[in-house]
Amino acid sequence: MKFKRTIIITGGAGFIGSHVVRLFVNKYPDYKIINLDKLTYAGNLANLSDIENKPNYQFVKMDICNFQEIYELIKTQHADGIIHLAAESHVDRSIKDPFTFAQTNVMGTLSMLQAAKLYWESLPEKYEGKLFYHISTDEVYGALEMTHPNGVTPPFTTKASSQSKHMAYGTAFFTETGKYQPHSPYSASKASSDHFVRSFHDTYGMPVIVTNCSNNYGPYQFPEKLIPLFINNIVHRKPLPVYGKGENVRDWLYVVDHARAIDLIFHKGVIAETYNIGGFNEWKNIDLIKVLINTVDSILGRRPGEDMDLITYVTDRAGHDMRYAIDSTKLQRELGWEPSLQFEEGIEETVKWYLDNQAWMDNVTSGDYQNYYKEMYETK
Ligand code: NAD
Ligand code: TYD
Repeated sequence: MKFKRTIIITGGAGFIGSHVVRLFVNKYPDYKIINLDKLTYAGNLANLSDIENKPNYQFVKMDICNFQEIYELIKTQHADGIIHLAAESHVDRSIKDPFTFAQTNVMGTLSMLQAAKLYWESLPEKYEGKLFYHISTDEVYGALEMTHPNGVTPPFTTKASSQSKHMAYGTAFFTETGKYQPHSPYSASKASSDHFVRSFHDTYGMPVIVTNCSNNYGPYQFPEKLIPLFINNIVHRKPLPVYGKGENVRDWLYVVDHARAIDLIFHKGVIAETYNIGGFNEWKNIDLIKVLINTVDSILGRRPGEDMDLITYVTDRAGHDMRYAIDSTKLQRELGWEPSLQFEEGIEETVKWYLDNQAWMDNVTSGDYQNYYKEMYETK
């Protein structure tokens, strides 16, 4: 079959990547979607079992750092779009092993860029109809304060974009023109990769787009991240290790809404622009954890709140960013994107998904993964 476009999605076996691959494979049967993934601890092809036999889907096991192999793939497949999600993504791991983050996130991104550039430059039409779309994080902007100039104690409600009411813990938000001030080795490596992507536009004229998204939640997230880890621990009545006082604020977006934004921006975004993606949905960790406990308890037929005593305050994460809050007004105004789910609906769907997919969770948390958890808990 002749396809209209060939798109390589890197990191498609991971959490967000699997949702992007699923959306594109189902929505665009005339596109060939190549999922390029090294299958690190975070890559799991079970995340895509529902679409793996579709005729427009292909999986390629490859390391983004292997420039020669990447170049050959882009060339032989005549790829005209790249959506780059492959990365090391967990802050706690970056604190223990920053080298892997520099290698994958910086050198891997550079090798993807250089391979795409060499192939696209060799074509008669060069960059026409091509796009390198880099997926990044709000964490590159650093941390926001929890302050209010009028002395009002946060949280307070404010008006933000099309959302009528928004609970915020400070007055400042991350915008596309914000200064890069990464604090963790993870965010430093992502910041560096963002700079490389933009430099390929400014230096070689390569068509690029960068988006910076807030924390994602939803099905298929590796259970080292807060939400799936805590859901699983509540189910099994294991301690919930809350870093510091649990006062840190994160801005949560349902992963399918991120995938929808990526689809929209890939097709309608303006070359060389940056778009922030977020749903104006700030939560203090401890408040979110209480919602998780109540939701799991009530779905399991326990008394809601029965498992509050699992909350265990542990030593804070080194360099723990206080608050993230994305201003996605530009994306909403210019491209008309809106999150589709309210947080309460999204979190209930997510909890139900993990409870209904215990086999997926057991598979991920068994064997080598268990050793990893043992090591993590021993140091907490
Ligand atoms: P993830 O850790 O769940 O998945 C990462 C995927 O990349 C895995 O499938 C892994 O096998 C693959 N990978 C890692 N190293 C590779 C390499 N060298 N070569 C090829 N594949 C490799 O990550 P995620 O949470 O889905 O995040 C995806 C992207 O989105 C990342 O770039 C991340 O920085 C960004 N992001 C994540 C969030 C979030 O809340 N999770 C928020 C904003 C942005
Ligand atoms: P995480 O899911 O690791 O995402 P990120 O660090 O990229 O924001 O963590 C979300 C928040 O939850 C963050 O403030 C750290 C906190 N946290 C805990 O308190 N305990 C945990 O075991 C984990 C994994 C995270």
